[in-house]
Amino acid sequence: MDARVENYLRRGRFYVEGWLRTEAALTVIALADRQRALGVNGGTAEIGVHHGKLFILLYLLSRSPERAVAVDLFDDQHLNIDQSGAGDLARFRHNLERHAGSDRLVLKPGNSLALCGADLVRLADGPLRLASVDGGHTAEIAAHDLATVEAALAEGGIVIVDDVFNEQWPGVGDGVRRWFERRPNLVPFAIGANKTYFCRPSHRDVYRQAAVAAAGAATTTEFLGEAVAFLQFARPGFKDRLAASPLWRQVRTTPVGLPLRWAWHTGRRLRRGLARREDF
Ligand SMILES: C[S@@+](CC[C@H](N)C(=O)[O-])C[C@H]1O[C@@H](n2cnc3c(N)ncnc32)[C@H](O)[C@@H]1O
Repeated sequence: MDARVENYLRRGRFYVEGWLRTEAALTVIALADRQRALGVNGGTAEIGVHHGKLFILLYLLSRSPERAVAVDLFDDQHLNIDQSGAGDLARFRHNLERHAGSDRLVLKPGNSLALCGADLVRLADGPLRLASVDGGHTAEIAAHDLATVEAALAEGGIVIVDDVFNEQWPGVGDGVRRWFERRPNLVPFAIGANKTYFCRPSHRDVYRQAAVAAAGAATTTEFLGEAVAFLQFARPGFKDRLAASPLWRQVRTTPVGLPLRWAWHTGRRLRRGLARREDF
């Protein structure tokens, strides 16, 4: 994994307010890697960036000269009819600069309802490789934003949609169904960690495989009449996460780490002994 992406995943992300689970970040990284392996190029875009939590990752996963387009109401929060987050331009810019830089950023402040696919292609200087839909959460806005990114997507592009199965935001699921009734040239291929992923039918199998490999396990289910992978992530426990952390690796053999390891193993032996006694 690219060092800047890894740094953002492990540390930087926690300093940015927003919505992005570790499992979703890992899936997006794996899908972007698979796109690179397939030679799929193009800009990235997000409708609804809030303070930039996912956008920064998308930016880090893109390469010069690919542009990264950020669409949000920002200062026009009086138009944010469902109050799903609240974009803040100053914080967004600060976060992006701190964690990724901004030379390839294209800002598009305003209402996404005024945007069409051709606008996105012009702003990104070509069809999109990765696009996230996480703006207004009403059915009307979700359906509109999906149609917008679909019209701007490259052949091997991927659309990431937030909250499709979130019971707090039923409008998103309604919007997805409304949009899908118009028979778009996209199919869903995976669902997991509050994100639903769509791509052109030509790339469905290869992306589904990449998403499942990132999760570690999956079951096949059906959504919108299509077979999709429900991603099941095996999250490492606290001990495994601690053991893998750079800080622990530095201290584990020092006068600080050695007694901690002794206490941990002694405690484990005692707990096992007690558990055996309770069996009788
Ligand atoms: C849930 S937040 C986005 C979270 C973000 N993707 C993240 O990674 O944390 C939704 C965002 O959509 C923006 N928004 C809401 N309605 C919008 C609209 N009609 N046009 C553009 N942006 C909109 C809000 O300002 C808010 O920043």
